Amino acid sequence: MKALEYADKNFDNFVQVLIELLKIPSVSAQSEHKDDMKKCAEFLVDKLRWMGLEPKIFETPGHPVVYAEYINNPQAPTALIYGHYDVQPVDPLELWESPPFEPKIVEDKMYARGSADDKGQIMIHAAAIESFLKTEGSVPINFKIIFEGEEEIQSAHLDTFLEEHKDMLKCDLAIISDTAMFGRDLPALTVSLRGIAIAEIKVVGPNRDLHSGSYGGAVPNPIHELCNIIAKLHDDDHKVTVPGFYDDVVDVADWEREESRKLPFDEKAFLLEVGSKGLVGEKGYTTLERKSARPTLEINGIYGGYSGEGTKTIIPSWAGAKITMRLVPKQDPVKICGLLQKYLTELSPAWVDVQVTTSGGAKPGMVSRENPMMQAAADAIQEGFGKEPLYTREGGSIPIVNVFKEILGVDTILFGFAQPDSNEHSPNEWFDLRDFKRGINSTIHLYKKLAEMKV
Ligand code: BES
Ligand code: MN
Ligand code: MN
Repeated sequence: MKALEYADKNFDNFVQVLIELLKIPSVSAQSEHKDDMKKCAEFLVDKLRWMGLEPKIFETPGHPVVYAEYINNPQAPTALIYGHYDVQPVDPLELWESPPFEPKIVEDKMYARGSADDKGQIMIHAAAIESFLKTEGSVPINFKIIFEGEEEIQSAHLDTFLEEHKDMLKCDLAIISDTAMFGRDLPALTVSLRGIAIAEIKVVGPNRDLHSGSYGGAVPNPIHELCNIIAKLHDDDHKVTVPGFYDDVVDVADWEREESRKLPFDEKAFLLEVGSKGLVGEKGYTTLERKSARPTLEINGIYGGYSGEGTKTIIPSWAGAKITMRLVPKQDPVKICGLLQKYLTELSPAWVDVQVTTSGGAKPGMVSRENPMMQAAADAIQEGFGKEPLYTREGGSIPIVNVFKEILGVDTILFGFAQPDSNEHSPNEWFDLRDFKRGINSTIHLYKKLAEMKV
């Protein structure tokens, strides 16, 4: 296939373009990067235009959406190709071995914020499309590209964009490359993503920070009260105690549990990778199940009082914590937020004021394995990697997957090529350029195979 030859010959150019893309600090969560978001969107527009497409920028109340469509073959399916050009904040900066926005290649790994999540993976699709356009003059499938700038901030404005442009976005399936392989040389097709529900709790005590000698022992300490509340959110079996939390959970089927036990998961290597002394989680489930197929509640941050140098003897006036819960099929983020809110209120003692705020989040995303497009995806991976893909559940969330189903009525193929330990959201994020290459090849095969499936 000419496209494959082109991809092979031009691989170094693809890497160069990726480097330029990675230099733009498109951190969606931080307002100081507002202009960088714009710059990043424009960079992608220029690249798509150079390839021969007619991209457009759609403004939103947040960051812009980059859009391009290509309709050429009425016999072939139309794929919605989605990715995100926004990245997570880089802190703690001092832990980066090279600056996060100065991409550096070390032993086939591209180090930079966003290399795996998700700029490297959106470039896989750009490279595959370019390879067809610059050789065969056309791409075998029809497609509509959405590169959004708000995935890391819950795709805040994308639902509205989809609603407003439902007709324009009509398609037969969605393809997202924003998930991970199972490990080195272990390509995977992801069959589910967890959802997410988000909350924050603030405990307010005295009207100001007080001298802990003069007042301590008689006045409630908001940090103690907060910790008491948090400690009650799990029981000794590490189950979440929020009443009703598990009510809607669909248990993993026996056949799937069995299948997951056959995955080449190395628990010792996993423990070594995370670097903690031991592993712990919900009783009755394996590590793999705990981190992908079971719902969780995590405290992401806790704040309040004095944590600076030396000692400051105070009773703090207030304390707070940020909470997220990962959800599995049939759990609803709004309902779960309501349950948590109610329980936190019940746990609150009368002598402090407890404020809870919640923000819905995202529903879990499921991929139907029965969809014949999944077979095309598996065959494409086989061609690109010389290996069959594993079927895996992913613990992370991609909010838009379920929305594609609800608004556009389509299934998504999760066609991702990051490594599970690629430091997404952490310092020293990396993307393996060998997987970049095999990802591009697999994607070229995928487009070809999808085109053979008449619609
Ligand atoms: N690409 C990730 C999701 C992911 C993580 C897939 C790990 C596979 C493996 C995505 O960019 C992400 O980080 N999502 C957020 C969504 C949240 C901010 C609403 C997440 O999961 O925390
Ligand atoms: Mn991502
Ligand atoms: Mn991410």
